[in-house]
Amino acid sequence: MNYQHLYHAGSHADVFKHLVLMALIEYFAQKDKPFCVIDTHAGNGVYNLTESPNQEWQAGVGKLPQTAAHPLLQKYINKTRDFSQFPGSPVIAATNIRPQDELILIEKAEASYQSLRKHFRYNKQVHVHGGDAYQLLLGLLPPKIKRGIMLIDPPYESGDELEKLNDLLTKAIKKFPTGCFALWLPIKSRALVNQFYQSLAFEKLICEFCPWPDDIAIRLNGSAMVIINPPYQLEKTLKPALSELLKFLKQDPKGFVKCYIA
Ligand SMILES: C[S@@+](CC[C@H](N)C(=O)[O-])C[C@H]1O[C@@H](n2cnc3c(N)ncnc32)[C@H](O)[C@@H]1O
Repeated sequence: MNYQHLYHAGSHADVFKHLVLMALIEYFAQKDKPFCVIDTHAGNGVYNLTESPNQEWQAGVGKLPQTAAHPLLQKYINKTRDFSQFPGSPVIAATNIRPQDELILIEKAEASYQSLRKHFRYNKQVHVHGGDAYQLLLGLLPPKIKRGIMLIDPPYESGDELEKLNDLLTKAIKKFPTGCFALWLPIKSRALVNQFYQSLAFEKLICEFCPWPDDIAIRLNGSAMVIINPPYQLEKTLKPALSELLKFLKQDPKGFVKCYIA
């Protein structure tokens, strides 16, 4: 495994993904009943963005102002002002859940796993598992707490990752049919992304955040969150928050945000 998330931490894709994660957690927290978050590809927890080799964050979290109109975006900005302690998804989740909730992290890379264990060593709500998410997730489902958000955020290093994800989702949903599964997806080739959407045999909320339009061939035009069993009308909160985010992170006048059920 060569993937190092420090290269991409704080990028437009990270900001988008973490905002969606916060919206999901906010929605689940509307009811008193406990819920769990399972972060299948957790990464390090925190990143020192000033040490990022390619500084992608400068076009992401680095472009956010101090104040925003949408409360969700403002909440995110408040959490991310210290660029030497930039929160990855595990810290975003851990700082948004309530005392009755639980966070389960899976990470395969030994160094990242150790960094998570160290970061959360005094936090009894957080359980860290080292290993392969494709094997471990199914063993964790259905979770003891029967309301759950599963964030699936793989590095897309291998050519067959989309097929493996489709298979994983199919098996995981069989084991936990009411679970909310949120998959992050890079948008590099529109044809490939649309083909993947169609290959999923479930109704889903698709949110796309693209600072660049589809017809410009750069490495990453944008990214998507595919949410199976989304909270009711989540798109009503997300669309305005993401539209405001786009105002700050747009790289091209034809950049766009989309949220729709398919
Ligand atoms: C995109 S990064 C995660 C970023 C993190 N979710 C965040 O938003 O801050 C992907 C992570 O998955 C880990 N990884 C790669 N293959 C894995 C696998 N099969 N199972 C679990 N973790 C894996 C990588 O080591 C890397 O830390």
